[in-house]
Amino acid sequence: MSHEPIYLDCHATTPVDPRVLEDMLPYFTAQCGNPAMSEHRHGEVAHRAVEQARQTVAESLGCRSGREIVFTGGATEANNMALFGALGACSGKRHVIASAIEHASVLAPLARLENFGVEVTLLPVDSCGRIDPECLRRALRPETRLVSVMFANNEIGTLQPVADIGRICREAGILFHCDAAQAVGHEPLDVEQLHIDLLSFCAHKFYGPKGIGGLYIRDTVATAHWQPILYGGGQEQGLRPGTLNVPAIVGMASALRLCMTEMDENQRNLREASGELFARLQRAFPQLRMNGDAEHKLARNLSITIPGIEASALMLLLKDTLSFSAGSACSSSDTKPSHVLRAIGLSDEECFQTIRLGLRPGVAIDKIARLLQRGIAAAPSFID
Ligand SMILES: Cc1ncc(COP(=O)(O)O)c(C=O)c1O
Repeated sequence: MSHEPIYLDCHATTPVDPRVLEDMLPYFTAQCGNPAMSEHRHGEVAHRAVEQARQTVAESLGCRSGREIVFTGGATEANNMALFGALGACSGKRHVIASAIEHASVLAPLARLENFGVEVTLLPVDSCGRIDPECLRRALRPETRLVSVMFANNEIGTLQPVADIGRICREAGILFHCDAAQAVGHEPLDVEQLHIDLLSFCAHKFYGPKGIGGLYIRDTVATAHWQPILYGGGQEQGLRPGTLNVPAIVGMASALRLCMTEMDENQRNLREASGELFARLQRAFPQLRMNGDAEHKLARNLSITIPGIEASALMLLLKDTLSFSAGSACSSSDTKPSHVLRAIGLSDEECFQTIRLGLRPGVAIDKIARLLQRGIAAAPSFID
């Protein structure tokens, strides 16, 4: 019998699907070739595997060609590459618009770019975490070079009106970058239909390995005037030099293929599970509040504010049985209230009373509900 806690932190990362691991294994050992060395058989096999994976990823995202995919070490790198790439090299007045609830791997590069004269406008979100496309339209300026808005938020699961944003950017002739780390493999997504020019993603959010991701770069984006963030050999069209991580690339494509096939069923299952879990918790504790947008939401996300209960105390209490996070995993070492929860109007106090659950298909809702109920009832409350 296993005594592992139940894993409920799928926004932070997901376990590798055993079918994916199986596909990756030969590329660690027998097929160890460097895909850049395709003069010999081992290199040829590795090269073919990488190009097949690139094609799978490109087709899954609706790209016109595999050449539009550049493999990176994850979504942080892809976001940095998109922002420095598109904004770093151009001269003159540069303006960029992003939402106030972007991931740190978008906000921190933007803060850095501000030191180099880039002007940044952060758009507010409503109490569900959505930006208003009309507000975006009004923020556009003649010198606006890029708009960066995430597909789905990693804390509250809110999906942005990406189609509207894409249309506005296309009409205005402005690049649209979308951080889709939480959405790829989970939400239907087509870069052509949505008018996305740059799209970041990573495999470890969709049951693939950690440390691998990619950036979609529309073929019309002028990479001739691109500011690379890495310099070296000519891999990935010179845009991202370095020996490719073949097993991880194979694993990412394998995971994405599975997620695309199983997406509808997984979404149904997760929507039902998260709905039932919240309903049960709320029956027991009517003061609980769900954050995010009930309609436009990642099916696996449950962000819950529990008035009177410190999220970190609840986590500690349930540490041996449930693995979930308080707010965002990426800021768990941070003692500041989450910028996302603050942006949707929560007080500092409420931010620290908020937990985030990231469900997997097939999780034992019954058991999770019982454990959480017991934990919430036993947690020290500061409301009389
Ligand atoms: C929305 C979003 N963007 C970017 C990242 C960074 O991804 P990676 O861990 O692959 O660098 C994350 C990870 O938490 C995320 O949730």
